[in-house]
Amino acid sequence: MPNHRHIDSRAAGRQLLTGHRELRAQLSSLRAALTGLDGAGGVAAVRAAGADPSLAEQLRTRCLEYCLGLHHHHTMEDGAFGIFEERIPEIAPVIERLREEHRQVAAGLDRLRKLLDSDDGQDVTWLREELERTVSGIEDHFVYEETYLLPALGVTASDRPS
Ligand SMILES: [Fe+2]
Ligand SMILES: [Fe+2]
Repeated sequence: MPNHRHIDSRAAGRQLLTGHRELRAQLSSLRAALTGLDGAGGVAAVRAAGADPSLAEQLRTRCLEYCLGLHHHHTMEDGAFGIFEERIPEIAPVIERLREEHRQVAAGLDRLRKLLDSDDGQDVTWLREELERTVSGIEDHFVYEETYLLPALGVTASDRPS
């Protein structure tokens, strides 16, 4: 087991970017899957989800997977933040803001997971709105991390995954 104090900051920063890319793709695909449940064409999709428990179950599962992925991403970051702070004390205020945002996201994820657990599994028409509420600040959080944390870790524009 490698000593985590020996982690390479730049590699950790690149891993963070890869995580953001994956989470953005996952959220965008989940939104697309849920879009049929409201707005134009929504009625047919709602009927389809109501009539087809496997479709409703798929959407629930995908939503839970996204929540879990985001939770793991933030847990990994929280584990590294203390090390970054020791190495680069001047970014302490940035890290403190990020930690607080992680706490807020964690509370939202808990709430959404509880809603999914207590739902009867048939009607998922509420899911899109609740998902949007849960992730409302997540893009700003990613951008803040990429703008203020990554340069301090030595990650440059050329490190960005295409
Ligand atoms: Fe984060
Ligand atoms: Fe992140």
